[in-house]
Amino acid sequence: MPEETSHIPPAAAAFPPVSRREVLQATAGAVALAALPGGAADSAAAAEAGAAAGHSLRITVNGHAHELAIDPRQSILDVLRERLNLTGTKKGCNQGACGACTILLNGQRVNACLTLAAMHDGAEITTIEGVAQGEALHPLQAAFIEHDGFQCGYCTGGQIMSGLGCIAEGHAGSPAEIKAWMSGNICRCGAYPGIVAAIAQANKAVRS
Ligand code: FES
Ligand code: FES
Repeated sequence: MPEETSHIPPAAAAFPPVSRREVLQATAGAVALAALPGGAADSAAAAEAGAAAGHSLRITVNGHAHELAIDPRQSILDVLRERLNLTGTKKGCNQGACGACTILLNGQRVNACLTLAAMHDGAEITTIEGVAQGEALHPLQAAFIEHDGFQCGYCTGGQIMSGLGCIAEGHAGSPAEIKAWMSGNICRCGAYPGIVAAIAQANKAVRS
């Protein structure tokens, strides 16, 4: 019988033994942190820990370059909201199910809540704050207003960012196609007819 190979990396195997009490204490601390409302691991405590850890992140957001010391566990959503005060990108579910946090990352639409900031050093990010040109709305923003593509507005930033991605990908050729490729963006107010109409109109405007 060949000897079984250990899957523990040598460096980890060399760590000093940890007692059961220490493991339970550490786990209880982690669970308490995760259970705090609003995802406390994302906020001030995480930022402080990140600064202490000294993980450096360089990103360009809406054309502005930033260099930040972050916690390597922080999502791009939390870096945008907590560190850069760009709160137009919303935290709905914080688990990839609603699309309220959609941004463009190097031109691709992504859920910012599921994207670790530390993995995207050097990235170019566009958020809803960077879509208009000064006072001039992007055609998609104007179309959302024209077609009543929102009610409470909580999902709207994510819908617009995702709509921009949908148009850029060439997935906005018909209402059915728009519905399919926007299915990751939930609107609790049910403004879907206006959202689809707005994306269809902006698609024509952008391509004409
Ligand atoms: S907050 Fe990211 S998908 Fe819901
Ligand atoms: S406008 Fe209210 S959730 Fe979409």
